[in-house]
Amino acid sequence: MRRLSISLLMAASLFAADQKPLPWEKNRLQSGQALFRANCVVCHDVDKTQAETKKFGPSFYQLFRGDKLPMSGDKLTRAAVKDKIKSGSIIMPAFDKVLNDSEIDLLIDYLQSK
Ligand code: HEC
Repeated sequence: MRRLSISLLMAASLFAADQKPLPWEKNRLQSGQALFRANCVVCHDVDKTQAETKKFGPSFYQLFRGDKLPMSGDKLTRAAVKDKIKSGSIIMPAFDKVLNDSEIDLLIDYLQSK
């Protein structure tokens, strides 16, 4: 229960977009960033716009400020992003055997903070 309320608090505070992160949120975002750098950054940018990126996959710059995924045009939800990460595609590797659920959540928190 305690864990649940802590994660709810974290989720709620991430939605308060432009507030300065609290120290424990910062750790979370840093872990998400590390996971992104280790697994995604070869193919996806997050600090460059779609027009600026030279990467193979779409950029996730301000991804969660919009309401659609850039390539598929699917409705943008955490669940849709999570599905994509787990299953990949013909060109994108699947991460279901590489990252566990909490790691994927950290990653999405990071994307949501950009
Ligand atoms: C080998 C390159 C590669 C890696 C590594 C990779 N991706 Fe992708 N990804 C792609 C490509 C190319 C696409 C676009 C084509 C497609 O949807 O399969 C894509 C699409 C996506 C989409 C859907 C975009 C849309 O608009 O539908 C998401 C979300 C995504 N990647 C997240 C990630 C995350 C998070 C990671 C790291 C865990 C990651 N990707 C790692 C190449 C990669």
